[in-house]
Amino acid sequence: MADIRTDVLVIGTGPAGSATAALLSTYGVENMVVNRYRWLANTPRAHITNQRTMEVLRDLGREVEAEAYLHCTEQELMGENIFCESLAGEEIGRMKSWGNHPLSRAEHQLSSPCMMNDLPQTYMEPILFKTACSRGTQPRMSTEYLRHEQDADGVTTTCLDRLTGKEITIRSKYLVGADGGNSRVAEHAGLPFEGQMGVGGSMNILFRADLSRYVAHRPSVLYWVMQPGADVGGIGMGLVRMVRPWNEWLIVWGYDINQPAPVVDDAFATEVARQLVGDPELEIELISANTWTVNNMYATHMQKGRVFIMGDAAHRHPPSNGLGSNTSIQDGFNLAWKLAAVVKGQAGPGLLETFSVERAPIAKQIVTRANQSIGEFGPIFEALGMTGGTDVEKIQASMDARCDATPQAERQREAIRQAIAFKKYEFDAHGVEMNQRYKSSAAVTEGQMEPAFELDSELHYQPTTWPGARIPHCWIYDHAGKKHSTLDLTGKGRFTILTGISGEGWAVAAAKAGKALGIDIATVVIGPRRAFVDHEGEWARAREVGDSGCVLVRPDHHVAWRAEEMVADPAGELTRVLSTILDRN
Ligand code: FDA
Repeated sequence: MADIRTDVLVIGTGPAGSATAALLSTYGVENMVVNRYRWLANTPRAHITNQRTMEVLRDLGREVEAEAYLHCTEQELMGENIFCESLAGEEIGRMKSWGNHPLSRAEHQLSSPCMMNDLPQTYMEPILFKTACSRGTQPRMSTEYLRHEQDADGVTTTCLDRLTGKEITIRSKYLVGADGGNSRVAEHAGLPFEGQMGVGGSMNILFRADLSRYVAHRPSVLYWVMQPGADVGGIGMGLVRMVRPWNEWLIVWGYDINQPAPVVDDAFATEVARQLVGDPELEIELISANTWTVNNMYATHMQKGRVFIMGDAAHRHPPSNGLGSNTSIQDGFNLAWKLAAVVKGQAGPGLLETFSVERAPIAKQIVTRANQSIGEFGPIFEALGMTGGTDVEKIQASMDARCDATPQAERQREAIRQAIAFKKYEFDAHGVEMNQRYKSSAAVTEGQMEPAFELDSELHYQPTTWPGARIPHCWIYDHAGKKHSTLDLTGKGRFTILTGISGEGWAVAAAKAGKALGIDIATVVIGPRRAFVDHEGEWARAREVGDSGCVLVRPDHHVAWRAEEMVADPAGELTRVLSTILDRN
C-alpha cells in the first residue's frame, strides 16, 4: 500500500518540472512535485528566455507573464554581443543579437505578443514553482527519487525522505521525469539515447563586481573574450555573461576534459576574472564556482508506458542558443494538456504517445543546433589566426595583423566580419526558437502539404496554420478596441475554433461536438459586429482558410486541424477529427 497517492508525480522542480506542475494544476489535475534539495536552483544557469516560452507563461496567466517581465533584464539591454580581447581591451567585433537588429526586431514583434528577455533561472523557477503550488500542486522538497515500478494501472515510485532518512512510496497514474541531465528516471525507464556526454569541460564562476564602465555603453548579455587558450573545452571561448546589469556576472571558461577538473577557489576565480575583464586590479566578490561538462545527447523516445521524460532529462546540450530551459518549459506545455485530457477521461492513452512523437525530434534538433553553434566559433578563431597552438606571442601577432594596410589584412578583416556575422545562427536564430511544427496523430493534416520555408528556417520564423504548426500571432480587437493576440484567444487548457462570420455554423457544431465528447471547445468568431474584429486584416491574411472555414487550435496553441470552408456536417467533422486526436475511436 503506497504512502501517498496523486494523479501525476513530477520528479524535479527545475524549469521543466515546475512548468509542468503549474500547467497541470491550472488544468485542474492533482499532482505532486518532488525535489531532492530543500529549495530551487541556487545558480542563475539558464537565462535567455525566448518568445515561445513567454507565451507559455502568458497562457498561465497575465500575472505570471508580468512577474517575469518585472524581474527580467529587458531585450534592449541584451543585444550588442561583443567579441573582444578583454572587457577593458580592444573590441574585435560585435553583432546585434537576440532580436535587437531592427530587421530582427520587426520579426520578433510581428510573430508574438511576447518579448524575449533575460531571466536567470534563479528568478524563473520561483515564478513557475509558486504558480504551481498556489494552484494546487503538492510540493515535497528534500525528497529524492530512488526508483519506480509501473503496472497496468499506475506507477509506484519510491523516494527517500532526506529529513527522516526513511523511504516513502508514491502511487500515481503517471510519472514525469524532469530530473535533469543525469536523469535516473530516464535510466530506470530504459529510454534510448543517442550522442555522447562529457564532450567538453567548462567552469562557471559567479561573482559580483561593478563592471559598468566596460559594458554599460554597449549593453549585452554576452561578452566573448578571445584570448590564447580560449578555444579549449567548454563552449569554445571565454565568456563574461551578465546576470544582473552590471554588477553580477558569470564567467564561463573551458578546461581540457581529458585533464582533471580544476579546483576553482577564490584566488583562481579572481585570476580568471582579472584576465577576462582585463583589469589586473579587479576585486570580485566570488559567489560560487563549479565545473560542468558539455553534453551532446538526446533521447530518441521520451515515453515508456506511464512514464515520461522531459527537459534536460531528454536533451542534454551546451547553453549555446539559450535553448535548455526554454525547450524544457515547452516540453511541459506539450505534455500537460495531454495528461489532463487522459486523467479526466476525455482522451485515450494514444494521445500521450504523441508527446514523444512530437517532442523527440525537437530534442534532436536543439541538441544538434547547440553543439553545432560551438563549432561555429571556429571560423572566428581561424580568421584571427588563433588556432593551432598556445604560443601567445604568435597568436597575438596573428590577431594584430588584421590592423595592417595589406591585401592580406584586408582579407583577414573580411573573414572576421563574415565569421562574426555567421554567429547569427546562435545569437539571432529566431526560426530555431519559433518554427516548431509537430507531425503526429494529434495534428490532422489530411494530406495538406507542409508549406516549405521560404527563408532559412533556423533564422526566420514562418507563420502558417498548417496543422502541427503554432497558430500565427495576429492582433485582433474587441468592442472597446482593446487588442488581443490570437494566442490569447486560444490555449488555456482547451481547444478553440477560430472562424469568420460565414463560418458561424462552426460555433453550433463545436457545442455539439464538445457535448458528444465531453470536452469544452471555445469558438471565436472574427468579423464586424462579432466579439472580435480583425480591423487590420492580419488574421484574414494569416489564416490560410476561407471566411467560412475554420482553424481548430489545441490547448498548446498548435493547430490541430483546419477546414478550408464550411462543410455539410460540421459537427460530424469536428467529432471525427477530435476523436482521432483524442484517441477516442
Ligand atoms: P534542471 O536540471 O533544471 O532540474 C532538475 C530538477 O530535478 C532539479 O530540481 C533537481 O534538484 C531535481 N532532481 C534531480 N535528480 C533528482 C532526484 N533523484 N530526486 C529528486 N529530484 C531530483 N538554458 C536556456 O534555455 N537558456 C540559457 O541561456 C541557458 N544557459 C545556461 C547556462 C549554463 C552555464 C548552464 C549550465 C545551463 C544553461 N542552460 C540554459 C540550460 C538550463 O539550465 C537547463 O537546460 C535547464 O535547467 C533544464 O531544466 P530541467 O528542469 O530539465 O532540469
